[in-house]
Amino acid sequence: MYNGLLYLHSLLRWVILLLLVIAIIRHLAGMTSKRLVNAGDKKIDLFLMISAHTMLVIGLYQWFVGGYGLKSIQNNGMAVVMKNAVMRYWAIEHITGMLLAIILITVGRGAVKRATDAGAHKKAFWFFLLALIVILATIPWPGRMGVGRPIFPGVH
Ligand code: HEM
Repeated sequence: MYNGLLYLHSLLRWVILLLLVIAIIRHLAGMTSKRLVNAGDKKIDLFLMISAHTMLVIGLYQWFVGGYGLKSIQNNGMAVVMKNAVMRYWAIEHITGMLLAIILITVGRGAVKRATDAGAHKKAFWFFLLALIVILATIPWPGRMGVGRPIFPGVH
């Protein structure tokens, strides 16, 4: 089950990245043309939030059950984990960055849920853009020193 969820976690990254890029473009266009938020915008934002929250649940499971999160801190001690770049990335940096990104996505989507004017487009645009930057910086891309993982699940 753990491997299946890791596979899903890896794949879902592409769904989130795609939906984020589409949402950012739509809100930028809405912002500049001053059109109201429409049903299409809301649908993309909703799917984005559901994907992000699914990722959070899978990630929390991995962090608490797998060997890279809580167990790494328990087995090695916080001082050792903080001094080791690879251990620190998995136990602290990945979860912190991704939690921040998921909060940004949730707040951005909330803005669009409450209002439909150009101001809502603007808020969603900035929150989603920030989330995209944080996610891109926090993904364990292949080739990242010590923490690189496959670009697609199962591709080595
Ligand atoms: C948008 C959010 C997220 C993205 C894009 C993302 C992306 C990834 C990727 C690409 C991997 C490597 C998968 C592989 O080895 O094939 C990974 C692993 C991992 N992620 Fe995330 N992640 C996100 C959120 C989270 C969150 C919120 C947590 C913790 C609460 C988390 C915990 C983990 C852990 C512990 C691993 C390593 C699991 C293992 O190898 O046993 N992730 N993540």
